[in-house]
Amino acid sequence: MTTKTILIINGPNLNMLGTREPEIYGSQTLHDIENLCRETAGAHDITIDFRQSNHEGEIIDWIQKAGGKYAAIGINAAGYTHTSVAIHDALKLCGLPIAEIHLSEPKEREEFRHFSYIAPVAKIHVSGKGAASYSEAIEKLAELL
Ligand code: DQA
Repeated sequence: MTTKTILIINGPNLNMLGTREPEIYGSQTLHDIENLCRETAGAHDITIDFRQSNHEGEIIDWIQKAGGKYAAIGINAAGYTHTSVAIHDALKLCGLPIAEIHLSEPKEREEFRHFSYIAPVAKIHVSGKGAASYSEAIEKLAELL
């Protein structure tokens, strides 16, 4: 049996976790979250490819190349969640199961965060649980795979 790999994509400003609004996003760094994801996935014999980009086009390139290479995608598109038709389109055409991840609960924040372009193309949605949103999303993807 070949080991399955999940691509975890993190969007803009998530490289600043730890110092970025800790009262909203918690005090863990993105590196801490990566370790948590690796541990959670490892318990299911799954490996992860964990990435972050501040650039929409780079994220779209990663999604376009993901088909056939990864078993699923977990994505916290950060601010692009609420703006990017292009990321929505790329996720739709990649044909992989998608988990939408958020540290905070965007629906309970400013109105401009209430709409998600990722939600309609995701099978799994986890938000509002801090770093545990990532581990729960991986658990749910592992069940699906
Ligand atoms: C976020 C929520 C988004 O509204 C925000 O722009 C982010 C982080 C979250 O993980 O809670 O950058 O995706």
